[in-house]
Amino acid sequence: MTASMPSPARLSYDPRDPAIRADPFPVYARLRDEDPVHWSPAIKSWVITRYDDVRQVKLDADMSSDRLTPFFRKLPEAQRSVLSEVMRYLNLWLVFRAPPEHTRLRRLLATAFTPKAINGLKPNIEAIVAERLDRLEGCKRVDLIEAFAMQVPALVIMDMLGVPRDRLKELKAWSDQMVLFIGSARNVPDKYEQARDGVHRMSAFFRQLIAERRADPRDDFISTLIAARDETSEDGKAGLSEDELIACCMLILFGGHETTTNLIGNSALMLMRHPAERDKLRRSPELIGKAVEEFLRYDGPSNSSARVVARTHRMHGVEMREGDRVFVMLNAANRDPRQFDRPDVFDIERDPNRHITFGFGSHFCLGAALARLEGQIAVNALIERFPDMRTIEDDPPDWLDALIMRGMRRLPVDLM
Ligand code: HEM
Repeated sequence: MTASMPSPARLSYDPRDPAIRADPFPVYARLRDEDPVHWSPAIKSWVITRYDDVRQVKLDADMSSDRLTPFFRKLPEAQRSVLSEVMRYLNLWLVFRAPPEHTRLRRLLATAFTPKAINGLKPNIEAIVAERLDRLEGCKRVDLIEAFAMQVPALVIMDMLGVPRDRLKELKAWSDQMVLFIGSARNVPDKYEQARDGVHRMSAFFRQLIAERRADPRDDFISTLIAARDETSEDGKAGLSEDELIACCMLILFGGHETTTNLIGNSALMLMRHPAERDKLRRSPELIGKAVEEFLRYDGPSNSSARVVARTHRMHGVEMREGDRVFVMLNAANRDPRQFDRPDVFDIERDPNRHITFGFGSHFCLGAALARLEGQIAVNALIERFPDMRTIEDDPPDWLDALIMRGMRRLPVDLM
């Protein structure tokens, strides 16, 4: 901790507190008003909650997106050795990189995320959504996360990458092991070992699949990336290395389904809690574009993103020292009354709606158009098929730790 930090006694943000997990917005309101540059002893990090400050941190040259290297350096030797393979791949994820590697990796990956490529996925998304909803016909009580919200994005991204659908269960299990390390504040005793196992299995899986696609290319994203790697790597600079290729596939698979699962799950819950808005959307399904922007703002799936202070500097008079970890709380910024009119009102027609759920600046989410399209198709079809779906009073939603991800482990519903 730095000498100039405020006393933590008054107000302390702890994402592991169950009350904060269920509803983080009251503490976000206090943080924005009383302590916008807050030191949280619970997560040993700065917590930034105002909209303008979050944008500034995202753009600030005094902040770095490479938060893994300093974290790894500080670990005791035994833990470093457990995490060495995790670091080998995660270090190559563009979300953790800075220029010039970030620029090169992003340019290569962006070739697969053109508006034309994303629009081309629409018929497949519609078919997956319809088929998963058909399976729910005749069911009464289900966990909506397991039965629908998780399935749709996972199958969409697997089809896009060219991963056989029958591997869903394994990929989900490996991804769950990784999420403990990447996106949660939970103190699971063996979380580093689990992350190691998840990364080991997933990277081995993609290494094998890449070898198969190299021998027998198909019309899928992995084959496109292999071509990008093989065409440009002759000068040894422009293309992707084999490890980078594997890491990209892991990032797309991981980033492409965890967050979108939470978008669909959170949206369903918001509509069940606001039946008048749900009925309005059913009557006017063409509002879905604006409605998804409000789902993203009001209780969006990316609670925060992390940075590291690259150079000691001050924010609102508070000194942030080189190496300190910083969480910019996107969901807190999205309810900032300095930016949004009536921020705590859920309004599916809100306009303007400049939420920052997909980030801001050079790391702006590459999959934003895909996530929006999936959200629009999945939510409209869900409320059309099960208009009276309800939460269950004695079996409430089970929220994930409210740190990086914002979503539910379980959302039990009565389909009616
Ligand atoms: C609702 C769903 C989604 C949300 C809320 C979301 C949110 C975000 C955020 C906040 C970032 C920036 C992180 C940072 O600055 O540290 C990001 C980056 C990224 N997202 Fe997403 N994402 C979603 C869906 C997707 C999907 C579907 C894909 C891919 C298929 C994807 C791929 C990526 C990639 C590759 C990056 C890294 C971009 C870079 O560092 O240049 N995301 N996302």
